Amino acid sequence: MMLEKKKILVAVTGSIAAYKAAYLVRLLVQCGAEVKVMLSPGALQFVTPLTFSTLSKNPVFSDFTENKDSGVWNHHVELALWADLMVVAPASANTLSKMAHGQSDNFLLATYMSARCPVMIAPAMDHDMFMHGGTRDNLRKLRDFGHHILAPGEGELASGLLGQGRMAEPQEIIDAIIAHFHPALPLKGQQVLVTAGPTYEKLDPVRFIGNYSSGKMGLALATALAQKGAHVHLVIGPNHLKIQHPQIEVHAVESANEMLGACLAVFDQCQLTVLSAAVADYRPAQQATEKIKKQGDHLVLELVKNPDIAATLGQRKKKHQKLVGFALETTNEKEHAADKLHRKNLDLIVLNSLRNEGAGFGTETNQISLIWPDNISQDFGLMSKQKVAEIIVDAAIDLLKTS
Ligand code: PMT
Repeated sequence: MMLEKKKILVAVTGSIAAYKAAYLVRLLVQCGAEVKVMLSPGALQFVTPLTFSTLSKNPVFSDFTENKDSGVWNHHVELALWADLMVVAPASANTLSKMAHGQSDNFLLATYMSARCPVMIAPAMDHDMFMHGGTRDNLRKLRDFGHHILAPGEGELASGLLGQGRMAEPQEIIDAIIAHFHPALPLKGQQVLVTAGPTYEKLDPVRFIGNYSSGKMGLALATALAQKGAHVHLVIGPNHLKIQHPQIEVHAVESANEMLGACLAVFDQCQLTVLSAAVADYRPAQQATEKIKKQGDHLVLELVKNPDIAATLGQRKKKHQKLVGFALETTNEKEHAADKLHRKNLDLIVLNSLRNEGAGFGTETNQISLIWPDNISQDFGLMSKQKVAEIIVDAAIDLLKTS
């Protein structure tokens, strides 16, 4: 877990984006972080302490006293010194201004001013407020204080206007936090694409042509890549896996055409792509809209060729992008794999053979050979899919160093 034992103080201020902070807290906890949450008086108008105490499994702080008559004092200095990192998300224009000018008229601000740890700020406000000279000055000041500002995204805002001001997505904030704690990770800040699982090619509303891929190899790859700091786009066909990793963004698809579409949507922004999916080479020429009825002793299906995702991406890739494919073979394994490597313009191919027991579909283990374009190859013994994934990821990182 990338944030194990890290103490993170999340400061939520008054913005409609406060609801996204709940998701951020959930992701932080999934990453192994210990999380405490502060809510500003403005945030209390949008979200409740109960949401955050449930998600963080810790009490939530919003005022100096627990309740007015108890005399129990929340110690802002103690809380500030507890944190390894303070994340202000969402940061409203009002709170940004107060932070920039040293005002501490609430518990959240007093804690911020007492903090010695690094501070990350994810502003959220309307476009014109964000573009206002006052906000620009405040952000400049906060940057000068050494704080890390996560630029807001562009899009539709709560006001109905379009523009910059949307809080960075929780996933982006997580990526930045992980990059902060692991500056030496080789894939830090990089996006990668992994395909996994089978494709289902519909025959009619109740039947499909599919294969036995479970998606386990692809998930092991996605996890190994995430552990090296990458943000992983996992484009995966129908599966029964539990995928819950904050750095793995799942794009669920069914058919080869859908898989191609999902890949093309993110491919250009990915430095590395690993194609472990078992994609159907053909699909039914017709998809019946009603269930095909039993008739006669034979049924002849006409199939048409599916797009080859690997070959399509191989043609599209730029010099800085690396493409790793798989080959699942049953005969003349290395020869067929090398042919696919060249034909699809891959930088590396991972061969697994169904002739090796414990390798291939559905198993927890795999046995692979790596083959590079100069026909150099390396053979490995039977091992867990996690270990296989680590070997492939290390080889892929070496490829990226040569671009
Ligand atoms: O999911 P698991 O149960 O863990 O099993 C893992 C696996 C056996 C599916 C995996 O290790 C594997 O071998 N994946 C590739 C399976 C395959 O379809 O190989 P292929 O030799 O037919 O295809 C060659 C390459 O082209 C592959 O990278 C494949 O993803 C890609 N391809 C193939 C056809 C197509 N239309 N588009 C593609 O992108």
